[in-house]
Amino acid sequence: MAHALVTGAAGFIGSTLTDRLLADGVRVTGVDCFTDYYDPALKRRNLEGASRHPAFQLLPLDLATADLSALPEVDVVFHQAAQPGVRASWGREFATYTSHNVLATQRLLERYQKTALERFVYASSSSIYGDAESYPTSESVLPRPFSPYGVTKLAGEHLVLLYGRNFGMPVTALRYFTVYGPRQRPDMAFHRFCRALLAGEPITVYGDGKQSRDFTVIADAVEANVRAWKRAAPQGVYNIGGGSQVEVVEAIALLEERLGVKAQLKFEPRPPGDPMRTRADAARLQADLGYATTVSIGDGLAAEAEWARSLYGGVR
Ligand code: UGA
Repeated sequence: MAHALVTGAAGFIGSTLTDRLLADGVRVTGVDCFTDYYDPALKRRNLEGASRHPAFQLLPLDLATADLSALPEVDVVFHQAAQPGVRASWGREFATYTSHNVLATQRLLERYQKTALERFVYASSSSIYGDAESYPTSESVLPRPFSPYGVTKLAGEHLVLLYGRNFGMPVTALRYFTVYGPRQRPDMAFHRFCRALLAGEPITVYGDGKQSRDFTVIADAVEANVRAWKRAAPQGVYNIGGGSQVEVVEAIALLEERLGVKAQLKFEPRPPGDPMRTRADAARLQADLGYATTVSIGDGLAAEAEWARSLYGGVR
């Protein structure tokens, strides 16, 4: 039985990946330090299914400070743990970002550098591109982060790749483009929009709401990890996005339709660090990992809206 280490196992992507690996017959050791960036009760809820599975164990530890010799030998590492959030990474908070995104990554690489890993997969981010030089943005475009968060994710990515080049570690970086769907973090746009619609409260829209994202459904982010383990090029870097482009106001209209509620919009200035546009060139993903998304934004939002209703109740 293959054995995987999933860091950030209680988070949005980490927990969904954990469930998928367990369903595929993989033994999973999950690591999470349950920070209070958002309610840890939601993270515990994410792990309810996995916790009952005999092939799952959870190690509650902080990768930036704990003795990592306690981590087991594994076949593959999926490093999903991070301090997320583009707009919150300014000021004093930056220290948290460097600790969780840079130092933790370096310590994990040190821990597994001399072991016989099949793959070390790093969760990178479209935020390393900032407002990119060209669209759709290919992996060869020079990264130019627009937020301190993006800088730390790029630093983590560089660390992963340099351990690959120096020591031959089989590393891969997946640059996720704004992932959404059931279990999405409560600070992210669609989760906030669903919660507000269900509570009859106004939705905060930054800027004029015409900023766009290449929103990526959670199943695709998980599939990319599973495929990267077996099929990615050595030291490969991949955009994980559907090649779509949706404006914030368009997504709100779809959610209104889905939840049957008219949104009240409250416009606020676009916060620093928030790029105007992201769009993935998904050609490398399709060529090497062999798939393209099949889920439309309408269907993906419907799944998130149903999940939000199960979490918050509200109008039908
Ligand atoms: C997301 C994740 O939060 C990051 O962790 C990840 O690294 C990043 O995607 C990525 O792709 O690299 P973001 O694109 O800001 O970051 O995702 P959302 O929080 O879902 O925001 C999407 C858009 O909605 C942004 O343009 C933002 O301006 C807008 N928004 C967000 C609002 O208009 N109102 C809100 O209340 C929240």
